[in-house]
Amino acid sequence: MSETGLLRAPREILFGAGAVDALGRVVARLGQRVLVCTDDYLAGAAPGRRTLAALRTAGLDVHMLTTAFPELPKANVEETIALARAYRPDVVVGLGGGSCIDLAKLVALGLSHPGPLDAFYGEKGVPGPVLPLVAVPTTAGTGSEVTPVAVLGDPERELKVGISSRELIPWAAVCDPVLTHGAPPHVTAYAGIDALAHAIEAYCTTRAQSVDAVADRIFTGANALTDGFALQAVELLAGGLRGALADEPAGRAATMQGSLAAGLAFGTAGTAAAHALQYPLGARTKTPHGLGVGLLLPFVMRFIMPASETRLAAVATAMGAGDTPADAIDAVRTLAHDLGLPSSLEAIGVQPEEIAPMARQAVGIDRLIRNSPRPLDAGDAEAILAAALHGDLERLDLTTPETQR
Ligand SMILES: NC(=O)c1ccc[n+]([C@@H]2O[C@H](COP(=O)([O-])OP(=O)(O)OC[C@H]3O[C@@H](n4cnc5c(N)ncnc54)[C@H](O)[C@@H]3O)[C@@H](O)[C@H]2O)c1
Ligand SMILES: [Fe+2]
Repeated sequence: MSETGLLRAPREILFGAGAVDALGRVVARLGQRVLVCTDDYLAGAAPGRRTLAALRTAGLDVHMLTTAFPELPKANVEETIALARAYRPDVVVGLGGGSCIDLAKLVALGLSHPGPLDAFYGEKGVPGPVLPLVAVPTTAGTGSEVTPVAVLGDPERELKVGISSRELIPWAAVCDPVLTHGAPPHVTAYAGIDALAHAIEAYCTTRAQSVDAVADRIFTGANALTDGFALQAVELLAGGLRGALADEPAGRAATMQGSLAAGLAFGTAGTAAAHALQYPLGARTKTPHGLGVGLLLPFVMRFIMPASETRLAAVATAMGAGDTPADAIDAVRTLAHDLGLPSSLEAIGVQPEEIAPMARQAVGIDRLIRNSPRPLDAGDAEAILAAALHGDLERLDLTTPETQR
């Protein structure tokens, strides 16, 4: 039987040093009145200045909102939509990390469809096309510049919520690695390891089975068209992240191309257990998304090993780190260590009694849990978290019941 494939992406992706200087030409095709969503810091720094210069040189009418907050609280989004409405833009530009790009997606959505944000939560809530969006990432990264999802924090929900829709895929992504030059080490490390987790999880998810099964899904599972991007991302990130941390231009470029490729892979395939487990971890410890995902990733890789031996061996090869699943796990742990990530949940203040409730919350996130190549229940999630609590991979039992083989 031939393989099944599905891939969704922006209409145009411009990548390379100096790409931001062409932003005006890209945006001018979409309209005259341009709203830029960013944060205070980036507005005053080189990315904000270069973005404004590029848009103004193209003769566009530009308004910049600098209201984005990290991790995107819902009130922050609502306030920005209200400010944006007064300007009546033709096109919305998201300039920044995942928080700013996700804010731009939600502003484009809020300006196009009336209704409270919670009406759009989940995978079926967005009623139709939104204002055209152009994403300009300054971290490498969440991949949000090419994905169909925006994530926000709602104080009425224990965990962060996602809005997923084909309509939220930016019209264009303009990816200039120079915009990441000078970013502080913790921003580089957390965003970079998140990208690696996107690539590895997208490559190892349950596979898309048939055209019929994928045609209407937002996240399809690994498939013939996402696999190439996932492995390319693993290779670029494993090769580039240490250089990016040292602020070397070649490492910055490889890391941005890697996070872009990872976004193309997971934006259709989806992610899985490392992401599900990070949601309750992030909510309790208030640690950034990338820190939690990167800390948990080796433990999740060890858990899925019995179901993903061939895939994890290919990850090891792509990382240039051997050819066995254990080599892949070692290489990810070493990279996370070199990037300065904590190696245990204890180190970020998690108490043993928090493990069971976090495990229960994580397995409730069905859209991510169903992607795990080795099925996991609350007991399995607890075992993963208990091993991560002490930073001890050997605690994870690798035997699988016959029914799962
Ligand atoms: N939509 C998606 O597909 C997707 C995927 C993964 C994560 N996310 C979301 O993205 C958010 C995290 O995004 P992030 O990791 O990019 O961080 P971020 O956008 O939250 O930014 C973190 C900090 O880094 C700063 N920063 C960004 N670029 C910089 C630069 N070039 N130089 C100096 N400082 C810079 C910002 O000003 C901010 O203070 C979370 O809300 C997460 O849930 C979204
Ligand atoms: Fe992520």
